[in-house]
Amino acid sequence: MSNTKEIVFATNNLHKLSEIREIIGDKFKILSLKEIGCNEDIPETANTLEGNAEIKARYVKEHYGYDCFADDTGLEVDALGGEPGVLSARYAGENHDSQANMNLLLKNMSGKENRAARFRTVIALIIGEELTLMDGIVEGEITHERAGDSGFGYDPIFKPIESELTFAQMSSEDKNKISHRGRATAKLIVKLKNME
Ligand code: IMP
Repeated sequence: MSNTKEIVFATNNLHKLSEIREIIGDKFKILSLKEIGCNEDIPETANTLEGNAEIKARYVKEHYGYDCFADDTGLEVDALGGEPGVLSARYAGENHDSQANMNLLLKNMSGKENRAARFRTVIALIIGEELTLMDGIVEGEITHERAGDSGFGYDPIFKPIESELTFAQMSSEDKNKISHRGRATAKLIVKLKNME
């Protein structure tokens, strides 16, 4: 009999799925929302990253019965009181347009000396009845203008402290080594690999 356990990653983002499948190997079969027949939009109504990650993981457990993990990420800018934070995907409106989000952020940062910011990813993991929250953080700053065209989202205007380059000027391999998501995922992998 196979030892492979099934666990849902509450996403349909193919890039995130293949990345984690590659790292986890054979111990877990990672299923997407689509693969379990969950085609509805899970409401993300919390005002924290922790809250939204937990809502998504609990939704899958309650409605579909699977163990599950879910992630939520935000860019937190000190000079803007932590904004855009949980609203990062829709900072400039509901249309999820990265260019508009970056334009608004650069506008709101004009004249600000303190450019410190961080990306934070929270992962909520539910195995049976147990909820575990893990996070991953990369500290950095908001640049004055865009640089680079790799990656997505706010990558062209975020420079991590570990580098002279923005995330959009790095290879995805270099970005993943230090990124918020890379760091949160590393904690998830340790937790899953140590499970019976
Ligand atoms: P999500 O929770 O992973 O969907 O991320 C929410 C939003 O944060 C995305 O729509 C992006 O705008 C932004 N974001 C998340 N991760 C990154 C990243 O690695 N680089 C740039 N922007 C990101």
